[in-house]
Amino acid sequence: MPVASRRRVSELLPEFPWDTIASAKAKAAAHPGGIVDLSVGTPVDPVDPLIRTALASVSEVPGYPTTHGTVELRTAAVEAMKRRFGLAGLDPSAVLPVIGTKELIAGLPQLLGLGAQDLVVIPEVAYPTYEVGALLAGAEVLRADGLTRIGPRKPALIFLNSPSNPTGRVLGVEHLRKVVEFARARDVIVASDECYLGLTWEGTAPSILDDAVSGGDHTNLLAVHSLSKTSNLASYRAGFVTGDPELVRELLAVRKHAGMMVPLPIQAAMTAALGDDTHEARQRERYRARREVLRKALEQAGFRVDDSVAGLYLWSTRGEPCRATLDWLAERGILAAPGDFYGPSGVEHVRVALTATDERIAAAVERLRD
Ligand SMILES: Cc1ncc(COP(=O)(O)O)c(C=O)c1O
Repeated sequence: MPVASRRRVSELLPEFPWDTIASAKAKAAAHPGGIVDLSVGTPVDPVDPLIRTALASVSEVPGYPTTHGTVELRTAAVEAMKRRFGLAGLDPSAVLPVIGTKELIAGLPQLLGLGAQDLVVIPEVAYPTYEVGALLAGAEVLRADGLTRIGPRKPALIFLNSPSNPTGRVLGVEHLRKVVEFARARDVIVASDECYLGLTWEGTAPSILDDAVSGGDHTNLLAVHSLSKTSNLASYRAGFVTGDPELVRELLAVRKHAGMMVPLPIQAAMTAALGDDTHEARQRERYRARREVLRKALEQAGFRVDDSVAGLYLWSTRGEPCRATLDWLAERGILAAPGDFYGPSGVEHVRVALTATDERIAAAVERLRD
């Protein structure tokens, strides 16, 4: 079949946003002190030796891993959720490891059988992969932060993200409870992306699976957890999904055919990471310190930082179009992510990541002062 008459899936998708900031990146890179790249939220601190040892410990094993993952990994996930977030009542059989949560999110609507007749609700300002996942399934996308915006419609799936990338906003128990009630009344699946739950700076951030939210009933609820940020494992591709046992069983049943098994050494690394809170707490404190100095420097340079009570970003504005702010920062050798990456309501913000070394954060602070 000639290429022209074949359906190009990429045409369903938006322009890859990172390609649009190449000129700002080049400008920032030309700074004599080098670029301070605060655009992608990619970890820079090394993987803890405890995790690397666990990775290597099974590197001689030749056989296929199971799709469901080892019992040790799933038990470690359940215990970590209990220790770190006070979540009781999770069952290891209702945990499914995933190769990165980006991959899960991009595939979830399809794994759940959604198609052209279905509506997927995503946050108004959102991590782009929720939209991508819905579009790959051919579903309709609605950006809505409140239930009134959904009106009388019955979505098939609602993506939540608290704490949010990019805004750092946290949804409280009341808000989450209303979403759960709505979902129950209309038989909607709620997938709550909680990859920043362990990185909360002011107040607390509840999980969708918290008893105060769910009343202990996880029907139709999924919590998506990544080890990329809290354990610096972005390069390993490591996450898991848990919640409604029946939904997790269904995802497992499809994945058994489709593959995407988490490699065994990564499973061992995840088990070690989930079993240890010390490295996680150490990393959190690194980010806390970076956040404090960077936030102050941005505010002193005339920025307003909105929300940003949790997560790895400062959602910042100078009250002008985000591309102008991007340029202003690039002239100082600093690269941020423009808010328009995340939806139309983000056009006057830039997202400034905390994921840079202490040395680079100090360089940014210095440049913002000048
Ligand atoms: C909100 C959110 N969800 C999911 C991911 C993907 O994480 P990973 O695929 O590394 O697990 C990210 C990464 O930045 C994110 O910000």
